[in-house]
Amino acid sequence: MKKRIFSGIQPSGTLHLGNYLGAIKNWVALQDKYDSTFCVVDLHAITVPQKPAELRQKTIEVAKIYLAGGVDPEKSAIFVQSHVSEHTELAWILNTITKLPELERMTQFKDKSQQHNQNINAGLFNYPVLMAADILLYDTDVVPVGEDQVQHIEITRTLARRFNQMFGETFTVPEPYVVEEGMRIMGLDDPAKKMSKSAESAFNYISLTDDPDTVREKIKKAVTDSEKEIRYSDEKPAIKNLINIYSLLDNIKPQEIEDIYRDKRYSEFKNDLAETIIGFLEPFQKKYNEIDDGEVRKILGEGAEKVRPMAENKMREVKEKMGLI
Ligand code: TYM
Repeated sequence: MKKRIFSGIQPSGTLHLGNYLGAIKNWVALQDKYDSTFCVVDLHAITVPQKPAELRQKTIEVAKIYLAGGVDPEKSAIFVQSHVSEHTELAWILNTITKLPELERMTQFKDKSQQHNQNINAGLFNYPVLMAADILLYDTDVVPVGEDQVQHIEITRTLARRFNQMFGETFTVPEPYVVEEGMRIMGLDDPAKKMSKSAESAFNYISLTDDPDTVREKIKKAVTDSEKEIRYSDEKPAIKNLINIYSLLDNIKPQEIEDIYRDKRYSEFKNDLAETIIGFLEPFQKKYNEIDDGEVRKILGEGAEKVRPMAENKMREVKEKMGLI
């Protein structure tokens, strides 16, 4: 039997190269080997305020990004979280075995409650429990994500083990899957912080919808450091980050890039990097623009139908084990 992977992205903010390199690129690489399920996690997105019309549009857009990025609906199920109600049902049950300090520790909760200090709602606090439900419903073995989500997978593992101990073997304990160079793509304007959907400045990220001139401008402005040498080192986080992006998009090792540019100027390196990014984005965007909304809705409908029986079976098992008649 094939092992299973599950992952998801929130339909909020601007999807950027970090989302592609940290997550989608790996999904595509893994979908042949694993039984794959990719979800547009709209119920997670509403833990911060969303405008209904925008949320509707973003949900379709994110599914299109999966498809344009190479997720193949013949091989992988693609669906919307709120279309399979077992996600919220299992989340409630898992809430009852989650300890408050376990949630209080979560870095994303601390960051988001600072950003949205007028709206620290219970959903934001319970966010990792819903994520655990997403993963555990499908007997997921492997969860391909960026590093910022690893803490949420740790709590998922804790909850799976705890439930199994209390009620008998029910859930598979999942493993995170992260790729060293892509797990933490940093902001172009600040290599100390990750590239982020909710960054204040558009110079923080390369959006998956940026046109060639915007990419050139953003890479030109990307911070480097005072030294002139192009070196792949933790002492040079800005250059290291740019080399990582280059390396993942061109499928060459960081050390090879270092060799190629050793005696060259930053400007030459940056020009080539910008063209590499454009070389990735152009066909991606062409594919994205060719995908019809109606087709996406059909794929999402079929995806939900495909995963629903699994979710229903798991919920039945959970209820039985817990004594819910
Ligand atoms: P989200 O929507 O914030 O991000 C989607 C994916 O992109 C990765 N990512 C990055 N990777 C590398 N560098 C970056 N700068 C960067 N920024 C974002 C994230 O790690 C993630 O893999 N809670 C999740 C969504 C979710 C989920 C799930 C994921 C809900 N349920 C179940 C896996 C399994 C989130 O907010 O991701």
